[in-house]
Amino acid sequence: MNITREKVVSTLIKDKRVPQLETASAFASTNIALCKYWGKRDIELNLPMTSSLSVSMGELGASTKISLSGTEEIWLNGEAVSTNTLFYQRLIEFFDLFRPTADTKFKIETDTNIPVAAGLASSACGFAATVKALDKLFAWEQSDSHLSILARLGSGSACRSIYDGFVLWNAGIAKDGMDSYAEDLEYVWPELRVGILLVDSKQKSISSRDAMQATVETCPYYKLWPETVNKAIKVVDEALEQRDFWALGTTAEANSLAMHALMLATTPPIIYSQGGTLELMQKVWRLRAEGLPVFFTQDAGPNLKLLFLQKDEEKLKEQFAQMRVVAPFAKVKESTHV
Ligand code: DP6
Repeated sequence: MNITREKVVSTLIKDKRVPQLETASAFASTNIALCKYWGKRDIELNLPMTSSLSVSMGELGASTKISLSGTEEIWLNGEAVSTNTLFYQRLIEFFDLFRPTADTKFKIETDTNIPVAAGLASSACGFAATVKALDKLFAWEQSDSHLSILARLGSGSACRSIYDGFVLWNAGIAKDGMDSYAEDLEYVWPELRVGILLVDSKQKSISSRDAMQATVETCPYYKLWPETVNKAIKVVDEALEQRDFWALGTTAEANSLAMHALMLATTPPIIYSQGGTLELMQKVWRLRAEGLPVFFTQDAGPNLKLLFLQKDEEKLKEQFAQMRVVAPFAKVKESTHV
């Protein structure tokens, strides 16, 4: 028999089902996978086929405030979310897992500083911030690994957004997913920069959820994916340890392209790239051929995230005027200087 999300939630939170506060808030950074999560072994619990490795985006993320309320309401960036959107339904279904009684209603207000559903992992930080806020509201006092499991039930990649810095999500093998959670890696790389290049910030045509399922079901090359990711994780882990930026960049870029190659060979094919995406990729390759160490990674959308080092920031800003630059370790750097 399949294990339900309800079962996992009751195993973790036990009888702590009564809110201890009227309102609670939390922030979580979004994260960018350097070795991607693409494909599930359990759809209900968002259990992945493979492990994945990411870097959290520091100040870029979501703040969520949850209040007990007379009416159920969801607000996103100051606007009420309509009840017939997928966003509303997914979030309400998630809250159903924690409602002490059927008539307990929540007002959920989320503010993000990233475009929603543009392949920039906004569901990741949204669910991670929600779980952190629920932990305060109900005074669960869950460990980070348990919060990671709870966030995963909302969206797979959200389990990595519980942490800052480099994060590894271990796929695990247990049927109930109790061994499938993220952990933070010790590595700190203050010079690392991520540049966000928006090609299009409109809602994507097919969700990553549906796209990865279609890939698993119909792509003849999907069977090569687990070995591809596992190898990439090993190389990236070593690159982080050695501070080998070239190895990090080439591996992350190749892993992202391999994921998109799987989608191309899915029936019907899935192509998130647009003309502008390919132009940017070619520009990155040209700059690299000219000696600039810059790489890209792409998720379930047309936008690119560039990976580079602080020393090249000015040169790259000249090349990509609209680029938003994130320093994932900005906070860590400040504190080591104090
Ligand atoms: C391409 O975590 O959004 O960003 O578990 O169905 O909610 P669900 O999928 P989601 O998928 C993220 C896919 C990705 C790669 C990654 O972040 O590892």
